[in-house]
Amino acid sequence: MKLLVNNIATLAGIDGGGVLRKAGADMATFDTIENAWMLCEDGIISDFDTTDNRPAPTQADTIVDAAGGTVLPSWCDSHTHIVYAGSREQEFVDKINGLSYAEIAKRGGGILNSADRLHTMTEDQLYEQAMQRVNEVIKKGTGAIEIKSGYGLNTQDELKMLRVIARIQESTRLRVMATFLGAHAVGREYAGRQADYVNLVINEMIPAVAAEGLADFVDVFCDQGFFTPDETARILEAGAKHGMRGKIHGQELAPSGGVEVAVKHHALSVDHLESMTDDDIALMRNAETMPTALPGTSFFLNMPFAPGRKMIDAGLPLTIASDYNPGSTPSGDMKFVVSLACIKMRLQPAEALNAATINGAAAMGLSADYGSIAVGKVANFFITRPIPSIDFIPYAYTTPIIERTFLAGDEV
Ligand code: NIG
Ligand code: FE
Repeated sequence: MKLLVNNIATLAGIDGGGVLRKAGADMATFDTIENAWMLCEDGIISDFDTTDNRPAPTQADTIVDAAGGTVLPSWCDSHTHIVYAGSREQEFVDKINGLSYAEIAKRGGGILNSADRLHTMTEDQLYEQAMQRVNEVIKKGTGAIEIKSGYGLNTQDELKMLRVIARIQESTRLRVMATFLGAHAVGREYAGRQADYVNLVINEMIPAVAAEGLADFVDVFCDQGFFTPDETARILEAGAKHGMRGKIHGQELAPSGGVEVAVKHHALSVDHLESMTDDDIALMRNAETMPTALPGTSFFLNMPFAPGRKMIDAGLPLTIASDYNPGSTPSGDMKFVVSLACIKMRLQPAEALNAATINGAAAMGLSADYGSIAVGKVANFFITRPIPSIDFIPYAYTTPIIERTFLAGDEV
């Protein structure tokens, strides 16, 4: 099956392949060509060029007229909790009335509130609810997504969540990576017995998840009031034994050792970083671990933003992701995340676009196949309405410019 996209005003986010992530000054380059066409074969990008160089092929099974729009690689959203039950707008109101995220969690709200709701829901119901959000983010241009468990907090409910994540992978054209986040909070039955809960995660949950092959990664909420770096290290080691690499929630609420433990255990990413220090930035120099900022969370919780500008200036790579979840970020709109990264973290548009595409793919271990327009990569892309430049994308921060989305070469 050949798909030809012609009449592309700007083909953006291109590379020659082999770029697995961008760091420091390289993040300011988001390569484009003008007046272009792109050919995809069997869901893979097979060729592209400017019409000045070579005219577009005339034969294809499907010909798509980009109508003078811009084509970009789909967003790679490397941190979401998109599978959840119900919604938590009451806590939104509580926050407006002055309660902090940590105070709400202490009162038994927050993550435990979502766990209670999820407990009473069947796998089918959970899948149906999640799919509404999944279809929404596909329309908004997301092509690869990481989804975490972590609202089960007992073995059966964690497995239920992970099975739903597997169904999303099977039933959509999205590329889905699954993360086991049993250590998101201490489950209700283990209140006051955190050490026992950590043992349950290590001795029962991780082996059960691995036995069904349900997770690519393991995550821990390593932060003040949640799990300690020592507990995180033990969980990371247990995950590694079962082939799951770490993706850590760290340094959100306080500088609490999350970066250090992530780097030491070669985690694929450490995410949040709102409370990241200069020492943490130094620790991340030359680390394999991808620093990941979640600007939507800072926006929604009215908290400080991760020091994205400082990280890039220090030569680090940076990923941005949505964190779509019911408590701290009920949105998976990656275009808005790109805008926030520019407005609130002082990223250049090109830096933010790299952070949301190639570096998002890197933070899921997918950048050999996703995250840019390159020959041999999966044909995940979207077409915008005609726009004056790529800087317009974050500038027009609520304008719905994404008109057509394609996953593995099919329009969705
Ligand atoms: O990434 N920080 C930890 N977990 C989620 C929030 C989960 C929730 O409030 O339901 C986050 O922001
Ligand atoms: Fe999160």
